[in-house]
Amino acid sequence: MRSSFPLFPDSASTHSGNVDALFVIWTLISIFFTILIAGLIVYFMARYRRRHPEEVGTNETVAVWLEVAWSAIPLVIALAMFVWGTRVFFDLYRPPANAVEYTAIGRQWMWKIQHPEGQREINTLHVPVGQSIKMKLASEDVIHSFYIPAFRIKQDAIPGRYTSIWFQATKPGVYHLFCAEYCGAEHSKMIGSIIVMEPRDYENWLAGGAAGKSMVASGADLFQSLACVTCHRAGDTGRLARGPALEGVYGSQVKLADGRSVTADDNYLRESILNPTAKVVAGWDPVMPTFQGQVSEEQLSQLLAYVRSLGPAASTAAPAAAGTAASASNPPASGTPQ
Ligand code: CUA
Repeated sequence: MRSSFPLFPDSASTHSGNVDALFVIWTLISIFFTILIAGLIVYFMARYRRRHPEEVGTNETVAVWLEVAWSAIPLVIALAMFVWGTRVFFDLYRPPANAVEYTAIGRQWMWKIQHPEGQREINTLHVPVGQSIKMKLASEDVIHSFYIPAFRIKQDAIPGRYTSIWFQATKPGVYHLFCAEYCGAEHSKMIGSIIVMEPRDYENWLAGGAAGKSMVASGADLFQSLACVTCHRAGDTGRLARGPALEGVYGSQVKLADGRSVTADDNYLRESILNPTAKVVAGWDPVMPTFQGQVSEEQLSQLLAYVRSLGPAASTAAPAAAGTAASASNPPASGTPQ
């Protein structure tokens, strides 16, 4: 799980042990030879120093076995590390046959993720524990890099072609997703969450079923899990907001980009979710992806219930939560009525 100041990332995939072992052994070998060589330099400096001004050096002869040894031993170590590192590398890039393929598309500045079942997420990826997952990566603009430290995987997402890497999560939890390639002004904000769930929980999540919850609570969950909150941030009119905040929108008059004005009722909100470019709010770019086919009728009404619960013309003056991108583990931006 996350800590506020981790010195070493969590180990949460089947790759972690292999990568860590390679890393630790390489580090120990490097430390050993650094100390050995630096120590010998200091020792020889003292041992063979010029003791008086007239002293002249003699030609030393070195035993052949010693010459061979200090060449052969490092060679063997280097080749062994090469073979070991190559095996780990191929393991990272050759998914097992039963791996399930997910797609992550990088763009400035978000990760758009699609599940094999068709679910889409932004900056959030829900996966079941114990399942081999192949990430197929692409980019819509510049080079990004899909980096999950806790899983020990990092792979560039490159415009114009697919790349891939795979993992199998070993314990449920919430883990960091980073972009590890400088990709522009908001590179440092191109972050997200990997949410590893028990298979049953994942199935429930896929089904959108939040059994035993109210419509509003289920809608609030959807607002997080569909990453609506990533763009529709309460009280945030800064650069992180990619869409209008929804507090107080329900029932109000909305000015559209084409100059018209509509009432934000159920039908308008429904259309805005399924066909977001039909009636774009003035002042915003038509960047919202369609959720047609991503949300069921039931989920739609849950979402509308949640938006409605945000109140008619309520205050939107809440200070913006600065900095970090939305995490699905965060509570909803606005209070959830019981
Ligand atoms: Cu995308 Cu850095």
